[in-house]
Amino acid sequence: MADHPFAGRTVQVVRDLSYDEQWYLYTKTKEFKEALLRGQNLEQFRIQDPNLGVYLLFMEDSTRTKESFRNAAKFHGTKVNDFDARSSSFQKKENLTDTVKMLLGYSDRNIFVVRSKTEGVCRWLEGAMADYAAKIKMPQPSFINGGDGRHEHPTQEFLDEFSFLEQVSWNRSKIHLALVGDLFHGRTVHSKVEGLGIFGEVIVDLVAPNEIAMPPHYVVSMKEKGFEVRIFESIEEYLSQPKHLIAKTWYFTRLQIERMGDKLQDKASQFRKAVTFQKDFIPRVHENTKFFHPLPRHSETPTIPMFLDSTSLNGWDEQSRNGYFTRIILMGMVAGALGQDFEGHSRLDEQYDDPYVVTVPIVSKGKKEYKIGIRPVQEGIVIDHIGRGMDPEVIWEHITTVRRLLKFNLVSSHGVYHSESDKAFKGIISLPASEPIPPVDLQTLAAAAPGSTFNVIRDGKVKEKYRLAMPPRVTNLEGLRCKNEDCISNPNLHEPSYPDFLRTNNNLFVCRFCETPHSFNEIWDRNLSR
Ligand code: CP
Repeated sequence: MADHPFAGRTVQVVRDLSYDEQWYLYTKTKEFKEALLRGQNLEQFRIQDPNLGVYLLFMEDSTRTKESFRNAAKFHGTKVNDFDARSSSFQKKENLTDTVKMLLGYSDRNIFVVRSKTEGVCRWLEGAMADYAAKIKMPQPSFINGGDGRHEHPTQEFLDEFSFLEQVSWNRSKIHLALVGDLFHGRTVHSKVEGLGIFGEVIVDLVAPNEIAMPPHYVVSMKEKGFEVRIFESIEEYLSQPKHLIAKTWYFTRLQIERMGDKLQDKASQFRKAVTFQKDFIPRVHENTKFFHPLPRHSETPTIPMFLDSTSLNGWDEQSRNGYFTRIILMGMVAGALGQDFEGHSRLDEQYDDPYVVTVPIVSKGKKEYKIGIRPVQEGIVIDHIGRGMDPEVIWEHITTVRRLLKFNLVSSHGVYHSESDKAFKGIISLPASEPIPPVDLQTLAAAAPGSTFNVIRDGKVKEKYRLAMPPRVTNLEGLRCKNEDCISNPNLHEPSYPDFLRTNNNLFVCRFCETPHSFNEIWDRNLSR
């Protein structure tokens, strides 16, 4: 199994499979569906391992995801374990990490399908259980995200893309898609950012009232991927355009009232009107249009009303059935039974080794003047340019964070000053060598004060100088905190997890678990620096 391309893999987000791997999943599913519909022998698609345990860990309600995975596991002939969160020791405050550790021991190898309100759970469990599985000499378990809060629903995305491919007769060159409904809370539409990338050219029309519009960072990601994105506030507005600008593939989501605060809930009927398809709209869409929906539809106020069920617009029934097929194949892949014939690029392993401590040549500028409140050091260390260009208030916070993290509880001085060159604000900490300076970990310093310089002073002159850029990964430091309260790293959830951030190309820090983007300042828990 060690060199199998998919065995033991976790699928927390769509991106956990490369586009080539996603394409493999779709073409294998097509092969399977065709064989099944023709009544052919399906043995070649089965896992055939009764010692493989499939655990359905659903901590939020589900019909389709849970039942399609349950039936997929039965198709494969594996053990199927239905974990009942409502009657488990969760009610006695046991944490999820302990629970999964225990379940791991009940089968020779394991696949966990997890649905939760908490975001980033599978990514956390992937790392936490890798260490534990190695310790007890078990194979790495797979974790498949069955929907985590507002974040992602990758297996729904796989079945959606499979259904779109069927609609366009497997022509991957272009797709024009309208996303309609609650684009703010709907995780299935968030997963589209990655899933639609299998098409060569992508045009996405976002149809939602402003208050429940697609979160801006997803729109930015779509544009970065080269998607053409157009925004409309209602179906009425969308259909007011010339017909050739209207998509033939529509993807609806329901209003997620249960995730809305009181203020938004009060506007629910207004939102519903804007994103519900009306009878008199029918002549305004192309004849061969298909509507899709992850389901469930709201039984009383569906955004795709029931009168459309028997029309040719109905793509959602077949889409729902495709969930069973795609999940059978995905399960076979991560179990190591399917995929030996995969050719193409695998998902690249995460890399965090950008250089971020750079030696700077020393340039003598003669003697500096005394500054207000801080004396030049003759021997010691000066950390300069802390938070350069930021507001003094933010620079003070960075100074406090640096002092706390590096334990600078000694005779020393610090302050916020104007830079001599351009009068921008910056922070300085100076540490005289007469004091026992604790070892300075430059990674920690870079994390707390990126852009600062670290100067070693001897005989009043700078002898060594390093410029610290933003590190590619910031983790395991006191005072970090993901701002998403539903993230698995939130300390209030009492999991043994920790904040972990990855820097993006635009110098944002994305939580490795829930993928919430943060500016650099936002990754620090400001309550700790006060
Ligand atoms: N589409 C979907 O996730 O449905 P369930 O909530 O029924 O699993």
